[in-house]
Amino acid sequence: RTYDVLVIGSANADLTVRVDRRPGPGETVLGTDLVENAGGKGANQAAAAARLGARTALLAKVGDDAFGEMVLDGQREAGTELRHVLVERGARTGTAMIVVGPDGDNAIVVSPGANSRLLPGDVTDARAAVAASAVVSLQLEIPPETVRAAVAVAGETGTRVVLNPSPVPEVLDPALLEAADPLVVNEHEARGLSGLDAGTAADWARALRARGARSVVVTLGAQGALALDDAAGDPVAVPGVAVTAVDTTGAGDAFTGALATRLAAGADLADAARFAVRVGAVSVTRAGAQPSYPTAEELD
Ligand code: RIB
Ligand code: NA
Repeated sequence: RTYDVLVIGSANADLTVRVDRRPGPGETVLGTDLVENAGGKGANQAAAAARLGARTALLAKVGDDAFGEMVLDGQREAGTELRHVLVERGARTGTAMIVVGPDGDNAIVVSPGANSRLLPGDVTDARAAVAASAVVSLQLEIPPETVRAAVAVAGETGTRVVLNPSPVPEVLDPALLEAADPLVVNEHEARGLSGLDAGTAADWARALRARGARSVVVTLGAQGALALDDAAGDPVAVPGVAVTAVDTTGAGDAFTGALATRLAAGADLADAARFAVRVGAVSVTRAGAQPSYPTAEELD
Protein backbone atom coordinates (compact mmCIF):
# COMPACT_ATOMS: atom_id res chain seq x y z
CA ARG A 1 0.00 0.00 0.00
CA THR A 2 1.23 3.50 -0.84
CA TYR A 3 -0.70 5.28 1.91
CA ASP A 4 -1.70 4.31 5.41
CA VAL A 5 -4.42 6.95 5.46
CA LEU A 6 -6.15 8.74 2.61
CA VAL A 7 -8.42 11.51 3.87
CA ILE A 8 -11.17 12.62 1.50
CA GLY A 9 -12.81 15.78 2.74
CA SER A 10 -12.77 19.45 3.49
CA ALA A 11 -10.02 22.03 3.82
CA ASN A 12 -10.68 25.45 5.34
CA ALA A 13 -9.01 28.57 6.55
CA ASP A 14 -9.86 28.89 10.24
CA LEU A 15 -10.43 32.49 11.39
CA THR A 16 -10.49 32.39 15.18
CA VAL A 17 -11.32 34.96 17.83
CA ARG A 18 -11.45 34.27 21.56
CA VAL A 19 -14.14 35.89 23.68
CA ASP A 20 -14.94 36.05 27.39
CA ARG A 21 -18.60 35.58 26.67
CA ARG A 22 -20.59 34.51 23.60
CA PRO A 23 -22.74 37.23 22.05
CA GLY A 24 -26.50 36.65 22.10
CA PRO A 25 -28.75 37.58 19.16
CA GLY A 26 -28.34 41.25 18.24
CA GLU A 27 -25.40 41.68 20.60
CA THR A 28 -21.81 42.74 19.90
CA VAL A 29 -18.87 41.69 22.04
CA LEU A 30 -15.17 42.41 21.65
CA GLY A 31 -12.74 39.54 21.22
CA THR A 32 -9.00 39.02 20.89
CA ASP A 33 -6.91 39.64 17.79
CA LEU A 34 -7.82 37.44 14.84
CA VAL A 35 -5.78 34.25 14.39
CA GLU A 36 -5.63 32.53 10.98
CA ASN A 37 -4.77 28.85 10.70
CA ALA A 38 -5.20 26.02 8.26
CA GLY A 39 -8.24 23.94 9.26
CA GLY A 40 -11.19 22.01 7.91
CA LYS A 41 -12.19 18.60 9.22
CA GLY A 42 -10.58 16.71 6.33
CA ALA A 43 -7.32 18.66 6.32
CA ASN A 44 -7.20 18.41 10.11
CA GLN A 45 -7.53 14.63 10.07
CA ALA A 46 -4.79 14.43 7.46
CA ALA A 47 -2.49 16.74 9.42
CA ALA A 48 -3.06 14.69 12.58
CA ALA A 49 -2.26 11.40 10.84
CA ALA A 50 0.77 12.76 8.98
CA ARG A 51 2.22 14.32 12.08
CA LEU A 52 1.92 10.98 13.88
CA GLY A 53 3.99 9.39 11.14
CA ALA A 54 1.30 7.78 8.98
CA ARG A 55 1.90 7.92 5.24
CA THR A 56 -0.98 10.25 4.55
CA ALA A 57 -2.64 11.80 1.50
CA LEU A 58 -5.46 14.34 1.30
CA LEU A 59 -8.04 14.50 -1.46
CA ALA A 60 -9.61 17.94 -1.13
CA LYS A 61 -10.35 21.07 -3.11
CA VAL A 62 -9.21 24.61 -2.38
CA GLY A 63 -9.48 27.89 -4.27
CA ASP A 64 -6.60 29.73 -5.98
CA ASP A 65 -6.41 32.28 -3.17
CA ALA A 66 -4.26 33.05 -0.14
CA PHE A 67 -6.36 30.79 2.09
CA GLY A 68 -5.70 27.92 -0.31
CA GLU A 69 -1.97 28.52 0.09
CA MET A 70 -2.44 28.47 3.84
CA VAL A 71 -4.17 25.08 3.63
CA LEU A 72 -1.33 23.71 1.47
CA ASP A 73 1.31 25.08 3.83
CA GLY A 74 -0.41 23.37 6.76
CA GLN A 75 -0.33 20.02 4.97
CA ARG A 76 3.26 20.53 3.82
CA GLU A 77 4.34 21.21 7.35
CA ALA A 78 2.57 18.08 8.63
CA GLY A 79 4.07 15.95 5.87
CA THR A 80 0.97 15.06 3.85
CA GLU A 81 1.18 13.97 0.22
CA LEU A 82 -0.28 16.94 -1.68
CA ARG A 83 -0.74 15.57 -5.20
CA HIS A 84 -4.45 14.92 -4.59
CA VAL A 85 -5.24 18.41 -3.31
CA LEU A 86 -7.05 20.06 -6.21
CA VAL A 87 -7.04 23.80 -6.84
CA GLU A 88 -10.22 25.24 -8.37
CA ARG A 89 -9.57 28.42 -10.30
CA GLY A 90 -11.83 31.30 -9.39
CA ALA A 91 -13.22 29.56 -6.31
CA ARG A 92 -12.75 30.68 -2.71
CA THR A 93 -11.16 28.32 -0.26
CA GLY A 94 -13.54 27.12 2.45
CA THR A 95 -13.53 29.38 5.47
CA ALA A 96 -14.49 28.71 9.09
CA MET A 97 -15.48 31.52 11.46
CA ILE A 98 -14.60 30.26 14.92
CA VAL A 99 -15.42 31.78 18.29
CA VAL A 100 -13.62 30.22 21.27
CA GLY A 101 -15.03 30.81 24.74
CA PRO A 102 -13.21 31.01 28.07
CA ASP A 103 -13.47 27.27 28.72
CA GLY A 104 -11.94 26.39 25.36
CA ASP A 105 -15.34 25.48 23.94
CA ASN A 106 -16.04 26.67 20.41
CA ALA A 107 -18.81 27.64 18.01
CA ILE A 108 -18.09 27.41 14.28
CA VAL A 109 -19.75 28.62 11.07
CA VAL A 110 -18.29 27.18 7.86
CA SER A 111 -18.56 28.75 4.42
CA PRO A 112 -17.83 25.72 2.19
CA GLY A 113 -16.39 27.55 -0.84
CA ALA A 114 -14.28 25.17 -2.95
CA ASN A 115 -15.22 22.22 -0.71
CA SER A 116 -18.60 22.20 -2.42
CA ARG A 117 -16.81 21.67 -5.77
CA LEU A 118 -15.19 18.42 -4.67
CA LEU A 119 -17.30 16.10 -6.83
CA PRO A 120 -17.84 12.34 -7.23
CA GLY A 121 -15.72 12.43 -10.40
CA ASP A 122 -12.77 13.70 -8.36
CA VAL A 123 -13.07 10.58 -6.22
CA THR A 124 -13.35 8.17 -9.13
CA ASP A 125 -10.32 9.90 -10.70
CA ALA A 126 -8.44 9.05 -7.50
CA ARG A 127 -9.55 5.42 -7.45
CA ALA A 128 -5.97 4.16 -7.62
CA ALA A 129 -5.10 6.18 -4.52
CA VAL A 130 -8.08 4.71 -2.66
CA ALA A 131 -6.99 1.21 -3.70
CA ALA A 132 -3.46 1.99 -2.52
CA SER A 133 -4.59 3.08 0.97
CA ALA A 134 -5.15 0.99 4.08
CA VAL A 135 -7.80 3.36 5.42
CA VAL A 136 -9.98 6.06 3.88
CA SER A 137 -11.09 8.66 6.40
CA LEU A 138 -14.24 10.71 5.73
CA GLN A 139 -16.33 13.52 7.24
CA LEU A 140 -19.35 15.45 5.94
CA GLU A 141 -18.12 18.93 4.97
CA ILE A 142 -18.10 18.05 1.26
CA PRO A 143 -21.12 17.25 -0.95
CA PRO A 144 -23.00 14.11 0.22
CA GLU A 145 -22.76 12.53 -3.23
CA THR A 146 -18.98 12.84 -3.06
CA VAL A 147 -18.89 11.05 0.29
CA ARG A 148 -21.17 8.37 -1.21
CA ALA A 149 -18.77 7.99 -4.15
CA ALA A 150 -15.85 7.61 -1.73
CA VAL A 151 -17.69 4.88 0.18
CA ALA A 152 -18.57 3.11 -3.08
CA VAL A 153 -15.00 3.18 -4.39
CA ALA A 154 -13.61 2.06 -1.03
CA GLY A 155 -16.09 -0.83 -1.07
CA GLU A 156 -14.86 -1.89 -4.51
CA THR A 157 -11.19 -1.64 -3.58
CA GLY A 158 -11.59 -3.27 -0.17
CA THR A 159 -10.31 -0.19 1.67
CA ARG A 160 -11.42 0.28 5.27
CA VAL A 161 -13.64 3.34 5.86
CA VAL A 162 -13.44 5.53 8.95
CA LEU A 163 -16.35 7.98 9.03
CA ASN A 164 -16.88 10.96 11.28
CA PRO A 165 -20.41 12.15 10.32
CA SER A 166 -19.79 15.79 11.14
CA PRO A 167 -21.49 18.23 10.67
CA VAL A 168 -24.13 15.71 11.68
CA PRO A 169 -27.20 15.33 9.42
CA GLU A 170 -30.60 14.50 10.86
CA VAL A 171 -30.56 11.14 9.13
CA LEU A 172 -27.39 9.43 7.96
CA ASP A 173 -27.46 7.79 4.52
CA PRO A 174 -27.62 4.00 5.23
CA ALA A 175 -24.88 3.42 2.62
CA LEU A 176 -22.53 5.55 4.71
CA LEU A 177 -23.57 4.00 8.01
CA GLU A 178 -23.06 0.47 6.67
CA ALA A 179 -19.59 1.31 5.35
CA ALA A 180 -18.36 2.89 8.57
CA ASP A 181 -15.73 0.77 10.35
CA PRO A 182 -15.82 2.58 12.65
CA LEU A 183 -18.37 5.34 12.78
CA VAL A 184 -16.70 7.98 14.99
CA VAL A 185 -19.24 10.12 16.84
CA ASN A 186 -19.34 12.42 19.82
CA GLU A 187 -22.17 12.04 22.35
CA HIS A 188 -24.39 14.57 20.62
CA GLU A 189 -23.94 12.86 17.25
CA ALA A 190 -24.32 9.40 18.77
CA ARG A 191 -27.63 10.25 20.41
CA GLY A 192 -29.01 12.01 17.35
CA LEU A 193 -28.11 9.26 14.90
CA SER A 194 -29.10 6.40 17.22
CA GLY A 195 -32.73 7.49 17.14
CA LEU A 196 -32.88 7.16 20.94
CA ASP A 197 -34.00 10.10 23.07
CA ALA A 198 -32.47 8.86 26.27
CA GLY A 199 -29.96 6.28 27.42
CA THR A 200 -26.20 6.12 27.73
CA ALA A 201 -23.36 6.33 25.24
CA ALA A 202 -23.19 2.52 25.36
CA ASP A 203 -26.87 2.31 24.38
CA TRP A 204 -26.30 4.69 21.46
CA ALA A 205 -23.27 2.74 20.29
CA ARG A 206 -25.25 -0.51 20.34
CA ALA A 207 -28.15 1.14 18.51
CA LEU A 208 -25.81 2.47 15.82
CA ARG A 209 -24.41 -1.00 15.28
CA ALA A 210 -27.92 -2.41 15.12
CA ARG A 211 -28.63 0.20 12.45
CA GLY A 212 -25.77 -1.08 10.35
CA ALA A 213 -22.47 0.49 11.41
CA ARG A 214 -19.72 -2.16 11.33
CA SER A 215 -18.13 -0.69 14.43
CA VAL A 216 -18.62 2.43 16.52
CA VAL A 217 -16.42 4.73 18.55
CA VAL A 218 -18.14 7.32 20.76
CA THR A 219 -15.87 10.12 21.93
CA LEU A 220 -16.69 11.40 25.43
CA GLY A 221 -14.49 14.48 25.72
CA ALA A 222 -12.64 14.49 29.05
CA GLN A 223 -14.20 11.08 29.83
CA GLY A 224 -12.34 9.31 27.01
CA ALA A 225 -14.20 7.10 24.55
CA LEU A 226 -16.20 3.92 24.00
CA ALA A 227 -15.25 1.37 21.34
CA LEU A 228 -17.69 -1.25 20.09
CA ASP A 229 -17.01 -3.85 17.42
CA ASP A 230 -17.56 -7.57 16.81
CA ALA A 231 -14.52 -8.56 18.82
CA ALA A 232 -15.95 -6.87 21.90
CA GLY A 233 -19.49 -7.94 22.70
CA ASP A 234 -19.81 -4.94 25.02
CA PRO A 235 -18.48 -1.45 24.44
CA VAL A 236 -14.93 -1.09 25.75
CA ALA A 237 -14.50 2.03 27.91
CA VAL A 238 -11.29 3.92 27.26
CA PRO A 239 -10.59 6.31 30.16
CA GLY A 240 -9.90 9.97 29.50
CA VAL A 241 -6.67 11.82 30.14
CA ALA A 242 -6.94 14.74 32.58
CA VAL A 243 -5.83 17.98 30.90
CA THR A 244 -6.72 21.65 31.08
CA ALA A 245 -8.61 22.58 27.93
CA VAL A 246 -7.39 25.71 26.16
CA ASP A 247 -9.08 25.17 22.79
CA THR A 248 -11.10 22.12 21.77
CA THR A 249 -11.31 23.16 18.09
CA GLY A 250 -10.44 20.17 15.91
CA ALA A 251 -9.97 17.77 18.84
CA GLY A 252 -12.39 15.34 17.19
CA ASP A 253 -10.40 15.54 13.96
CA ALA A 254 -7.16 14.85 15.85
CA PHE A 255 -8.87 11.86 17.47
CA THR A 256 -10.13 10.51 14.16
CA GLY A 257 -6.82 11.04 12.34
CA ALA A 258 -5.00 9.26 15.16
CA LEU A 259 -7.54 6.44 15.19
CA ALA A 260 -7.14 5.95 11.44
CA THR A 261 -3.36 5.96 11.86
CA ARG A 262 -3.43 3.13 14.41
CA LEU A 263 -6.05 1.12 12.53
CA ALA A 264 -3.93 1.36 9.37
CA ALA A 265 -1.03 -0.02 11.42
CA GLY A 266 -3.15 -3.04 12.35
CA ALA A 267 -4.24 -2.11 15.87
CA ASP A 268 -7.59 -3.35 17.13
CA LEU A 269 -10.35 -0.81 17.70
CA ALA A 270 -9.97 -0.39 21.47
CA ASP A 271 -6.18 0.03 21.20
CA ALA A 272 -6.58 2.55 18.42
CA ALA A 273 -9.13 4.44 20.55
CA ARG A 274 -6.70 4.47 23.50
CA PHE A 275 -4.06 6.08 21.30
CA ALA A 276 -6.57 8.52 19.81
CA VAL A 277 -7.74 9.64 23.27
CA ARG A 278 -4.17 10.63 24.11
CA VAL A 279 -3.74 12.53 20.86
CA GLY A 280 -7.06 14.33 21.31
CA ALA A 281 -6.13 15.25 24.88
CA VAL A 282 -2.85 16.87 23.81
CA SER A 283 -4.66 18.80 21.08
CA VAL A 284 -7.04 20.53 23.52
CA THR A 285 -4.14 21.86 25.62
CA ARG A 286 -2.96 24.10 22.78
CA ALA A 287 -4.61 26.78 20.66
CA GLY A 288 -6.06 26.07 17.23
CA ALA A 289 -6.66 22.79 15.43
CA GLN A 290 -3.69 21.72 13.27
CA PRO A 291 -1.05 23.73 15.18
CA SER A 292 -2.04 21.84 18.34
CA TYR A 293 -1.56 18.30 16.96
CA PRO A 294 1.30 16.28 18.46
CA THR A 295 3.99 14.20 16.78
CA ALA A 296 4.53 10.62 17.92
CA GLU A 297 7.65 11.72 19.83
CA GLU A 298 5.75 14.43 21.71
CA LEU A 299 3.22 11.88 22.92
CA ASP A 300 5.76 9.92 24.94
O1 RIB B 1 -13.53 20.30 13.44
C1 RIB B 1 -12.91 21.55 13.45
C2 RIB B 1 -12.96 22.17 12.11
O2 RIB B 1 -14.31 22.40 11.77
C3 RIB B 1 -12.28 23.50 11.98
O3 RIB B 1 -10.91 23.40 11.63
C4 RIB B 1 -13.12 24.23 10.94
O4 RIB B 1 -12.45 24.48 9.74
C5 RIB B 1 -14.34 23.34 10.72
O5 RIB B 1 -14.24 22.60 9.57
NA1 NA C 1 -6.39 22.64 20.06
